[in-house]
Amino acid sequence: MKILVTGGAGFIGSHVVDSLLSEGHDVVVVDDLSSGRKDNCPVTVSLYEGDIRNEMFMRTVFEEENPEIIFHFAAQLSVRNSVEDPLFDADVNIMSFIYLLNLARDFKVSKIIFASSAGTVYGDKDLLPVDESAETLPECPYGISKLTMEKYAYFYQIAYGLNYTALRFSNVYGPRQNPHGEAGVIGIFTQRMLAEEDCFINGDGLTTRDFIYISDVVNACMISMKTDIVGEYNISRGEQTNILTIGRYLKEYIGYSKKIKHRQAQPGEQRFGEYSSQLFQQRTGWSPEISIELGLQKTVKSFKNRE
Ligand SMILES: NC(=O)c1ccc[n+]([C@@H]2O[C@H](COP(=O)([O-])OP(=O)(O)OC[C@H]3O[C@@H](n4cnc5c(N)ncnc54)[C@H](O)[C@@H]3O)[C@@H](O)[C@H]2O)c1
Repeated sequence: MKILVTGGAGFIGSHVVDSLLSEGHDVVVVDDLSSGRKDNCPVTVSLYEGDIRNEMFMRTVFEEENPEIIFHFAAQLSVRNSVEDPLFDADVNIMSFIYLLNLARDFKVSKIIFASSAGTVYGDKDLLPVDESAETLPECPYGISKLTMEKYAYFYQIAYGLNYTALRFSNVYGPRQNPHGEAGVIGIFTQRMLAEEDCFINGDGLTTRDFIYISDVVNACMISMKTDIVGEYNISRGEQTNILTIGRYLKEYIGYSKKIKHRQAQPGEQRFGEYSSQLFQQRTGWSPEISIELGLQKTVKSFKNRE
């Protein structure tokens, strides 16, 4: 099958590309390489280097490739940047998604699977774990964008019969995660500890996140493509791990000799994160398989090899 992956040179996208290639699919990637890397893209993939906001460019890709399925991962994904520049966030995340949906409709794409965000679409909740029945009250423009994308996908489904699955990922980590961005404490710590550089925990380190390893996320993406499942689903482990614990495991696995330092907490940062993926599990038979300990060991190994 011909499959288009936007953001396919990035962290999650490139792992999905690998999985699609291993199953013999014909894969086309669109990526502007703003945070992705060309060397994440195998040579057997047709890489169109460009911006998803460029309607003409995207139309040309569809005319030349005529994909049957779309995985959409390209995004502005910094919460902080979305607060500083909500217009840019909306332009990348919402406007270009509407172009993409129009193209998907016009070129009769059978399904679009895209990345949403469990960590931001619900907003801060007292009752954990959060499942899909919880009220969605995003507290940052990035979360508003992701939720808006889901609403547009729903509209294109009821109006034009375009199938979609919105995967609300929790905190994804693993090989190829960008260690320089704002998101991804695991990528940042792994890179810094391997280089024996200082590592900082913002605040007391008791903040928790629901970390999920990349291979579990890829499996959820592949299942979404192969089944007729539609709608919005949390993709998470349903388990909280605090940042102190992440730091302790990584220090041990890497043999980092320095003490992890603390600095001031980021204002407005969500305190606890835990999301239930029971709905997706019940409907598809998927379940997260990689424990945090094993996932961290695999991540350290791959970062070492890449050094
Ligand atoms: N990593 C996580 O924990 C996480 C959690 C929830 C949701 N998500 C979502 O998953 C998706 C992938 O995230 P990731 O962690 O792999 O990030 P990433 O930065 O590694 O990947 C994003 C890719 O999109 C490309 N891109 C960005 N803007 C583009 C544009 N305008 N035109 C073309 N390409 C563009 C980048 O170059 C990069 O290759 C995003 O939609 C993100 O919002 C990620």
